Amino acid sequence: MKNILVIQGGGRPRGNTAQLIESFAGGAKEGGNTVEVISLIKNEVKGCLGCNACRYGKPCIQKDAFNDLVPKIRAADCIVFASPLYFWTISSKLKAFIERFYCIAEEDSNPPFGRYEKYPAKDCALLMTAADDFFWTFEQAVSYYKFTLINYIGFNDKGMLLAGGCGDTNGRPQIDKTNHLHEAYEFGKNIYAE
Ligand SMILES: Cc1cc2nc3c(=O)[nH]c(=O)nc-3n(C[C@H](O)[C@H](O)[C@H](O)COP(=O)(O)O)c2cc1C
Repeated sequence: MKNILVIQGGGRPRGNTAQLIESFAGGAKEGGNTVEVISLIKNEVKGCLGCNACRYGKPCIQKDAFNDLVPKIRAADCIVFASPLYFWTISSKLKAFIERFYCIAEEDSNPPFGRYEKYPAKDCALLMTAADDFFWTFEQAVSYYKFTLINYIGFNDKGMLLAGGCGDTNGRPQIDKTNHLHEAYEFGKNIYAE
């Protein structure tokens, strides 16, 4: 049994992203895991100010929800990053959350080339929804996920679910007309299957 923390980086309360997360979480629980979903709409996390206080052993100077989330981040085996596609990449809320990982970095006396610190070892996954479904639709989001969370931070990728074709920006959420909710359930159910 693994401890999965889903970070919901935005979207409408009963929108495509919320439904995708709900299906994923249902599958992951069915697979024997514990799942907690944290909404960055309900829990405000501001972007990093770059003050470097955390690099001198001081707590983050920003008094927002991130400090309460740090124990949950540390306790999680897997962090699932979930977001609607906004202007071809992850939401600004999810980006701000990832920036704050700066203060959970640990000193690395012998970092590999191109890395300056180390991060707790964790699994991660990406869940995204979008109106469009072209071959380039998720390109920037996937590039950011791979470069930042996997290559740099060093998380172990458990997979991505890129749910394109979920309807237009202003229209009703249409993910229930696609196969993505079923895919999300199966993804969650099998994420730690033997
Ligand atoms: C500000 C904004 C920007 C968006 N940008 C894109 C985009 O670049 N490409 C795309 O395919 N859909 C885009 N969309 C559509 C959403 O990604 C899509 O409808 C998503 O499923 C909405 O998630 P929700 O139902 O959870 O709110 C955008 C929507 C909004 C509100």
